[in-house]
Amino acid sequence: MALLSVLTPVLAVILCLVIGFILLKSREAPSTPPVETGSKANFRPWVDQDLQDDTEITAGEDEDGDWVDISEEDLLHVPYSPKRYSEEMMLQRSQDFYTLMNERRSVRFISPDPVPQEVINNVIHTAGTSPSGAHTEPWTFVVVSDPEMKHQIRLIVEEEEEVNYRQRMGEKWVHDLAKLRTNWIKEYLDVAPYLILIFKQTCGILPNGKKKTHYYNEISVSISCGILLAALQNAGLVTVTTTPLNCGPQLRLLLRRPANEKLLMLLPVGYPASNATVPDLKRKPLDDIMVKI
Ligand SMILES: Cc1cc2nc3c(=O)[nH]c(=O)nc-3n(C[C@H](O)[C@H](O)[C@H](O)COP(=O)(O)O)c2cc1C
Repeated sequence: MALLSVLTPVLAVILCLVIGFILLKSREAPSTPPVETGSKANFRPWVDQDLQDDTEITAGEDEDGDWVDISEEDLLHVPYSPKRYSEEMMLQRSQDFYTLMNERRSVRFISPDPVPQEVINNVIHTAGTSPSGAHTEPWTFVVVSDPEMKHQIRLIVEEEEEVNYRQRMGEKWVHDLAKLRTNWIKEYLDVAPYLILIFKQTCGILPNGKKKTHYYNEISVSISCGILLAALQNAGLVTVTTTPLNCGPQLRLLLRRPANEKLLMLLPVGYPASNATVPDLKRKPLDDIMVKI
């Protein structure tokens, strides 16, 4: 009996410890995720958030009821049988095209010599052959040749670029650009016979004012810009790819483009100046950029 009365507090302590341990374990155990039902569970964003081209917003929501679905169920499908080259010919053409494109350089010294408007029409027509999300063709190419308008563009770009270089870009960015010898003075904006400003249409606006989703608009327009660069190279013209930071809204207003259009790229276009130079950059060898599996 005496032994029992001595052991009782010990047993009570052990019992408390066991209960405490069980409670602790039950809290640590991973809780089973609640089973989601309905359409929310199946919802997946349309694109990676990083793309930031509004596709995921405009495709997923219909808050203002101002969006339309354009069904193309009735679209006719037609035979497609482009020319098939012999292997020899393919090899030759692919090699020739590589040689042509490998000669492309970003040229910041452009000649004022005039370029036929028809050539510009053709290269932009070519850019418009680009694939686009759901064939929405979300691009607008604004071609500026008017000297006064080019100068207005230069004023806007130089003012913003000076602030970019001095304040916004940060030391590392400015340091990385130093070897390219670029700065905020953009003489080519006055000199080049053409400035092509490429806008991405973040959505379409139909004649009745309703909006239409432009899937992957930024990727689509970027691809068309790549095709435009290739077409310019093919025509023997030069440009420098520029993305004037923070100038988009002002240039959009200057060029009277609607609010659904955002500036993606500005390309001054012409022949290279006779004294043009380019940085002696090297490109990565094939083995560094291709992975065969
Ligand atoms: C998205 C993008 C933005 C660029 N922005 C500028 C720019 O604002 N100013 C500039 O002088 N060059 C700009 N460049 C050109 C690059 O500096 C150039 O492509 C790079 O140095 C490689 O030279 P390459 O084009 O002669 O091969 C840009 C290029 C790309 C692809």
